[in-house]
Amino acid sequence: MEFKKITAAEAASLIENGQSIGLSGFTPAGAPKCTPAEIAKKAEAEHAAGRPFKISIFSGASTGQSCDGMLANAQAIDFRTPYTTNADFRKRVNQNEMAYSDLNLSNLATQLRQGYLGQIDWAIIEACAIEKVGSKCHIYLTAAGGISPTVCRLAKNGIIIELNAFHSPKSMGMHDVYEIEDHPFRTPIMISKASDRIGKPYIEVDADRIVGVIECDVADEARGFKDADPITTQIGQNVADFLLSNLRSGLIPKTFLNLQSGVGSGANAVLGALGQCPEVPNFNIYTEVLQDAPVALMKQGRVLSASTCSLTVTNECLMDVYDNMDFFKDKLVVRPSEISNCPEVISRIGVCSLNTAIEVDIYGHVNSTKICGTKMMNGIGGSADFTNNAYLSIFTCGSTTKGGAISSIVPFASHIDHTNHFIDAVITEYGVADLRHKSDMQKAQELIKVAHPDYRPMLQDYLKYASKNGGHTQHALSAAFAMHDTFLRKGDMRLTDLAEYIK
Ligand code: COA
Repeated sequence: MEFKKITAAEAASLIENGQSIGLSGFTPAGAPKCTPAEIAKKAEAEHAAGRPFKISIFSGASTGQSCDGMLANAQAIDFRTPYTTNADFRKRVNQNEMAYSDLNLSNLATQLRQGYLGQIDWAIIEACAIEKVGSKCHIYLTAAGGISPTVCRLAKNGIIIELNAFHSPKSMGMHDVYEIEDHPFRTPIMISKASDRIGKPYIEVDADRIVGVIECDVADEARGFKDADPITTQIGQNVADFLLSNLRSGLIPKTFLNLQSGVGSGANAVLGALGQCPEVPNFNIYTEVLQDAPVALMKQGRVLSASTCSLTVTNECLMDVYDNMDFFKDKLVVRPSEISNCPEVISRIGVCSLNTAIEVDIYGHVNSTKICGTKMMNGIGGSADFTNNAYLSIFTCGSTTKGGAISSIVPFASHIDHTNHFIDAVITEYGVADLRHKSDMQKAQELIKVAHPDYRPMLQDYLKYASKNGGHTQHALSAAFAMHDTFLRKGDMRLTDLAEYIK
């Protein structure tokens, strides 16, 4: 080892109150695990001694329990961006214990370089291998690209490496590391198909910026997926039928589109179902998270190539990818998030985006982030990066959740992340609301068709009340959130009595 070996506790001892850390990873995949956990312990010790200790955290997207979870529980976070999925973190964000800024993932690296987010003091990077080449160090990342190249370059005090033996050096070569130039000197990003490579397989830094290397062997904190159920399978079938009818009518090219699939069990199941549909041609993926289902489809030859920012897969699936790198090496490219989610590339190469909504209103505005408009779920992630730039933008969701007590189709979304200008179709287990070429009132009828039958009469009643007020987009504002309000008061939207709310 040509670099100084340190322990995670020694690394944590370097981090001071008020400093900021930039992390590798995107989702728990590829995130450092040992140092953040030790920083959480340090925070607890500092707090016990009556001293303040809080830091700012920047990462590609979510991390795992050993980072977001432990640091949130240790009350060690002052500021955090962007997306996270950790339940402990979510609880504390919703208690307003820290400043959490929900950014579009494609913007983060640029905003860090622009200095909008303050300085990065330390980069903490998980690697499967590091090499000293003259005065340089080549860092080979593990299961995700994230913002690693940018935070490595910006980190004022240096770079801490977690050299994690869990990730096989066989994966060296999987990454395509490329950083976009600063404005106004940006050049075009020369990606014209998912498998194109434009950068290097490693991050190159001056070797003297490596402060220390922690040798470890820790599994990724991957979450398992819920198995596909009859609802997600039906949604997947409906997506496949919709894409096929568009293909037959020439609305999408015969060569098909690059698919992007969002995060979560629903998205995993939808992509799995799509792959099983024999009439859907073999396709390519340009996405930010590759989950288990599309990796299986790559092995079956259904997915020809995939560009992603992370392998957000179960550890079993990850090991299978590493063991079969000969097969995957020319088909799978892992990129930094500013490239995987780059609006310019997405709009140019032709992407069909498939994201999951929390709720959709009858005019097609989508809430991806806030439960009942107030409680943060996870964040916007890359859903806007893809939705706003896709050739075809689709949202999917089950028509209800929580045993039917919540309708995903509501009169007015309680928070809006994606406006209806960007959304082509919303698909539930009851079918497809094709919003293209429709007025707002026509969109409402399409969307009510795919609502759960229990809620269709209520939504039609809402439109009847709203029609009295006229307008291009009709609303009865006093009743617009009647379903949400009833859920919050009585625990079930089905108990909504719209008449009570009409003034
Ligand atoms: N009201 C209250 N809770 C709701 C809800 C609603 N309208 N819709 C969903 N939920 C809850 C579910 O009940 C479930 O709760 P549980 O964990 O207690 O069971 C949870 O949200 C997750 O929903 P689920 O149906 O399991 O879907 P999912 O795992 O596919 O996640 C999102 C759905 C929307 C939370 C997830 O896709 C997300 O975070 N999206 C935003 C970011 C994004 O789209 N990134 C895409 C680019 S990769």
